[in-house]
Amino acid sequence: MSEAHREGEAALSLHPRTGREEREHHAEARRREFDRLIESAGCRPVVSRSMLLRTLHPATLFGAGQVASIGAEVTRHGATVAFVDHPLTPVQQRNLERAWNCKVVDRTGLILEIFAARARTREGVLQVQLASLNYQVSRLVRSWTHLERQRGGYGFMGGPGERQIELDRRMIRRQIKKLHTELARVRTRRATQRAGRRRKALPVVALVGYTNAGKSTLFNRLTAASVHADDQLFATLDPTLRQADLGDGAAVILSDTVGFVQALPHELIDAFHATLEEVTQADLILHVRDIADRESLRQKEVVEETLHRLFPDDAAIPPVVELLNKCDLTPQVTGAIHEAENGGRIAISAATGAGIDRLRAFLRDWVRRRWVERTLTIPAADGAAIAWCHRHGRVLEIAHQREYCLLRCLLPPQTPLPKGVTARRTAERTPR
Ligand code: GTP
Repeated sequence: MSEAHREGEAALSLHPRTGREEREHHAEARRREFDRLIESAGCRPVVSRSMLLRTLHPATLFGAGQVASIGAEVTRHGATVAFVDHPLTPVQQRNLERAWNCKVVDRTGLILEIFAARARTREGVLQVQLASLNYQVSRLVRSWTHLERQRGGYGFMGGPGERQIELDRRMIRRQIKKLHTELARVRTRRATQRAGRRRKALPVVALVGYTNAGKSTLFNRLTAASVHADDQLFATLDPTLRQADLGDGAAVILSDTVGFVQALPHELIDAFHATLEEVTQADLILHVRDIADRESLRQKEVVEETLHRLFPDDAAIPPVVELLNKCDLTPQVTGAIHEAENGGRIAISAATGAGIDRLRAFLRDWVRRRWVERTLTIPAADGAAIAWCHRHGRVLEIAHQREYCLLRCLLPPQTPLPKGVTARRTAERTPR
């Protein structure tokens, strides 16, 4: 746990259970994940409790005895916020806030808070605002704190000095409409940028994975860029794109994405999917898995389900390669690298760098398999153009002909050629 978390607000983490929905160990995994989400929001869970609900009480969700005992815990620990891992109606939320004299936030509110704090691009910010307003519009009974951003979030957790503002439905709808218009503008701009990247002819490789699997750490290692990577869930909300050079002229655009999470509240699915737009455009998907996590298999299922939802037509899913990350924590996996590779999986440690050379080599081969053979006519004196061919592809043969030379080379498909260079044979042949 980071220093910031330790200094965070004291919070209660409450897990209502109806006794039929989940098997015991799933419920336990979900409880641990919820606690981590709370830490990600900068709070410190001082109490984390599973609570059996025999009946769902419309006014307070919990029974009177439970309400009273939680109230006592709030006072004992000086907690300022209670997170409830269950949807709360506005009425339940307000009643609990009154009974416990602290803020009460449900799972959707918590994830929105985290999304808001993590959003970096304009599109990400707009998407979170939209999701927040849609969430609010369905909860208009309660007064809510908003507009004055105090802590990077949207005020679901309240905060000192925030004004209580009642927004009526019409005002929110107007804001939603405005956001839609702006989002459309931002998306058009992004589409133009994407087309620009395509012109560069580099394939797009998307990193996907369960939250905390190590995507940003790997992204940094492969691109030597400084993307925010720390032990917080959702360290990356917005797709982050950067070129990764793989050696010998091979390169890809690597895209880091928001971490997947189980039981994402349905209000947030659109916003979440929109942040995964880049995945739907990818030529290859690298599924980063935390192989050291006890829940690794279940997390894999969540990621695969999400991918199937992103690609309603299964045939359109780009090839997926699994990266068994954090193998430094599980020596037995490292021992099984060979076997893993045969199964289309590569064991790596994004943190220590183990297996990264193998991953680079795999990507390099994959990129090169896509290259096409072209024969270029280049003025003999144009050393820069010849150097360009060496830099961007693989030169197979050079034939000198008076003032021209003919270069037979492998190049990324549709690569725009330097000035003065012409492709002699237009029929492109993909090498074996
Ligand atoms: P989200 O943004 O939540 O989706 O997380 P992420 O998948 O981008 O994970 P991130 O790269 O932020 O890593 C999460 C934590 O795991 C950090 O504390 C990393 O230092 C740690 N981590 C990542 N890769 C490895 C690894 O190979 N070995 C070990 N031991 N820790 C790792």
